[in-house]
Amino acid sequence: MSEIQVQQPALKAEAKDLNFYYGNFHALKGINMPVYENKVTALIGPSGCGKSTFLRCFNRMHDLYPGNRYEGGGIEFHPDRTNLLSPQVDPIEVRMRISMVFQKPNPFPKSIYENVAYGLRVRGERSRSVIDDKVESALRGAALWDEVKDRLNDLGANLSGGQQQRLCIARALATDPELLLFDEPTSALDPIATASIEELVTELKSRVTILIVTHNMQQAARVSDYTAYMYIGELVEFGVTDEIFIKPKKKQTEDYITGRFG
Ligand SMILES: Nc1ncnc2c1ncn2[C@@H]1O[C@H](COP(=O)(O)OP(=O)(O)OP(=O)(O)O)[C@@H](O)[C@H]1O
Ligand SMILES: [Mg+2]
Repeated sequence: MSEIQVQQPALKAEAKDLNFYYGNFHALKGINMPVYENKVTALIGPSGCGKSTFLRCFNRMHDLYPGNRYEGGGIEFHPDRTNLLSPQVDPIEVRMRISMVFQKPNPFPKSIYENVAYGLRVRGERSRSVIDDKVESALRGAALWDEVKDRLNDLGANLSGGQQQRLCIARALATDPELLLFDEPTSALDPIATASIEELVTELKSRVTILIVTHNMQQAARVSDYTAYMYIGELVEFGVTDEIFIKPKKKQTEDYITGRFG
């Protein structure tokens, strides 16, 4: 490995002593973690350790359910240093800047075109030509345009699983988010569709910062620049992916990565 110290990239977000509770259950415990701009950060760790819970804090998904509570320093979002979790910050605004793609492709029961146009319409965009352009560029960004350009009025649900997931990525991209959240985006896909999503993630990071939850160690090693290892609500170790995989600092991380865990 090179000994040359590379310059730290710019911060896009930073969790500061972030705590989260589902009612009385303390699901995230004092998490401090940077998210670097135009990089891919992978969240790994055993089932139930809090990966999805952490991811959902970033777009305020937890606000949709009563009894959920954030505590601590929150999540600072750059460059404006807005605290995403501040009660003064409108969750709808947050979701315009931070989009999410889920485990199972979940296109709306609408046409391919309308799936992608959805967020633009919510935002109040009326111009047909603006929407046309954005839909095309989001579908291109999601590497789906060539496959669907002649059937934009077909239902999104008629696409293959891998195409549906790329449609969901296009839908997420249409509003030009700054951060994209992926929660195990390939776990419902076959190896070919998985490879195309991984390739896409690598391409997308030039325009958007990415935080991805994955159970697949090879996937984390292939797509991410940084890796965070979580265990029972705590962040055990965070670092450059190569270092986490080749020479983790903590024994616990090493045991998990090498499959000796549990
Ligand atoms: N809505 C909820 N209410 C109460 N507890 C919850 C809720 N959702 C998750 N939990 C609990 O919070 C902890 C973290 O769950 P989370 O879904 O974030 O884990 P995860 O790391 O994403 O797991 P997996 O890899 O299985 O998806 C678990 O103990 C889980 O049971
Ligand atoms: Mg999860």
